[in-house]
Amino acid sequence: MRTMTRKLFSKILCAAIILSLVSAPAIPSGRAELKAKTPTLKKKNITVNVGKKKTISIKNKSSKYKFSFLSKNKKIASVTAKGVVKGIKSGKTTVVVKQTEKKTKKKKTLGKVKVTVKKIDGKLIIAQSPTPAPVQTSPSPVPPNPTATPEPTPCVDIDFKNGDISMFTTEGEGVKIELSGDGYDDNACLKATGRGTGNNWFGCGMALNLSNYIQPGKLYSIVCYVKCDKDATITVRSRNSGSGGFSFPSQVGNTLDVKAGIWTEFNSVYASPDVVNKGLKIYWDASSTADLYIDSIVIKETKGIDSTFKDTFSEIFGNIGTCNTYTQMRENKQFTTSLYNSVTMENEMKPQYILNNAKVSYDVPDGYVVPESYKDNLYLEFNFNDIDNVIKTAYEYGLRVRFHVLVWHSQTQSFFFRQGYNEERAYVTSSVMDGRLEYYITNIMKHIYETEHGKDVVYAWDVVNEYFHNYDKGNKSKWNEVYYPSEKSESDRTKKPVYAKTAFTVAHKVLEQYGLQDSVSLFYNDYNTYEVADDIIEMINYINEDGKVCDGVGMQSHLDVKYPTPDKIASTIDKFTKEGYEIQITELDVTDYDNSGKQESYYADLIKMFVTKKKAGADITGITFWGLCDSNSWRWDGKPLLFSALFCPKEAFYKVIEVAKSVWE
Ligand code: GLA
Repeated sequence: MRTMTRKLFSKILCAAIILSLVSAPAIPSGRAELKAKTPTLKKKNITVNVGKKKTISIKNKSSKYKFSFLSKNKKIASVTAKGVVKGIKSGKTTVVVKQTEKKTKKKKTLGKVKVTVKKIDGKLIIAQSPTPAPVQTSPSPVPPNPTATPEPTPCVDIDFKNGDISMFTTEGEGVKIELSGDGYDDNACLKATGRGTGNNWFGCGMALNLSNYIQPGKLYSIVCYVKCDKDATITVRSRNSGSGGFSFPSQVGNTLDVKAGIWTEFNSVYASPDVVNKGLKIYWDASSTADLYIDSIVIKETKGIDSTFKDTFSEIFGNIGTCNTYTQMRENKQFTTSLYNSVTMENEMKPQYILNNAKVSYDVPDGYVVPESYKDNLYLEFNFNDIDNVIKTAYEYGLRVRFHVLVWHSQTQSFFFRQGYNEERAYVTSSVMDGRLEYYITNIMKHIYETEHGKDVVYAWDVVNEYFHNYDKGNKSKWNEVYYPSEKSESDRTKKPVYAKTAFTVAHKVLEQYGLQDSVSLFYNDYNTYEVADDIIEMINYINEDGKVCDGVGMQSHLDVKYPTPDKIASTIDKFTKEGYEIQITELDVTDYDNSGKQESYYADLIKMFVTKKKAGADITGITFWGLCDSNSWRWDGKPLLFSALFCPKEAFYKVIEVAKSVWE
């Protein structure tokens, strides 16, 4: 049986409402002083948009009473313990508001609020999937058909009323679970105790093994109520442990702040992995080690993100991307592929990874090309494991890849620049390094374009990264140590680095060998390009002086709401456009460290500017957001992305679609 204990929630709710209506005392009329003190509902009708929230207000609230709220149809609108109504999908429902006198525990219905939920067209839909889940073993990239009718039955529906907690286990050392009274809407719930006992790195609490209830590669809505004895931040995490070994937990949805002792609704969307291991579980964890409670857990198949975002941006720029690690890519197929058609690997294509565990030998590795410029008698065999996996997976997911990055001062091992590939020894000469550079670029590109689907997948290369910011924490770049040993400081740095020219020349030559020079682009990638635009132009024009080998600029865009203004970036785009460069926005994120609330308008202005420039002729051929969501961004503390958590879009997400469409049309 896939379905757990049925909750009969709506029937019980109706019965409770009828009962309480019958027993509710009428308010005596004509007694002004009593009337003034009696809590009443401010509004009996509210309208809320899908994904938006509105709070039910109560006039004459008194601390004598506790108030509770129940939505008669949680699929239309949910309501939190504080009366915050959230539109889930279009339709109508009623929220029943009850008041309990704290002293006497007398409960009565205060009133009902009619809720109308409206859907805003073209936006993200996070709604219940109308199709029942067919049993399937492989994931389907096609979202459930929205025109089919039957509602999916919950695959998990637990209210603990029958006392059965056998489907739960614990997560973390010392944690115990037990049935407890004082549930969210009845007198049964699950409690986790002993949470402070062990050394529980990734949180701890009650866990539910999902492997029996869900199917691989699908989306599920998880709705439940949580409570903690102390103020806390609640996180739901999932872990897909196999038969052996540890699997890193990932966060499901946003975290939720709860006040001590108050039941609060937790609402999120969970994408099941392509391979569901036996140990696949979700677990609840609170930032406080106080006891934690859960109740009313309903898990159902649901629908994800529509293709409006991807369609809009791919129509305008061609490539719309995100940055991923290989593991994230595997774990977040649904999310990534519904939003993007391009991906940049955060690490796997950097020298640090390719040179990691590279073999050094006197023999030329099988299939490798040794260029004439190569002067060493030792040969490196690169580590292509991750790259091969990425290409295979990207192809399978319908994603194309920006290769990031060949030449960079950072994340590149020191031995690569040293005699005998030995990091204890001195730097090699520039002529030895020329050979290594050609060997490195040629064999990587050759490997990729001779790997199955490599040609379909890798459409752009960051050949050189951050030359104009190559003094990390004041340390001179090793490339410059080799090529410009007498360079003393950044101010001495040449704007015509010979190795950058070599790198582009070699990369272009390889593209020509594979007939890809017109379909694949080679970029110089850097951050704060608006501060070094003229230097970049001088360098690219030097690189291209004997023939065009560099197509243009990857404008990393690690921005902040305070700086730079979109206008400043616009004038840089104008400069690059004047030079005839192709432009890609390669690493976009916009921090708002002060929570100023300006992120949405900043994103709107920025995207509006990009689309306006594109329309006016700038050759902007892609935008890549740097990360899936705030919680896994490298700048997580500035909450820089369009999603706070997976499947949890911010207003800025809707806004960028809206402005892009309106400017483009
Ligand atoms: C730079 C690099 C990226 C990445 C970020 C931090 O922008 O180009 O590859 O390392 O820093 O995530």
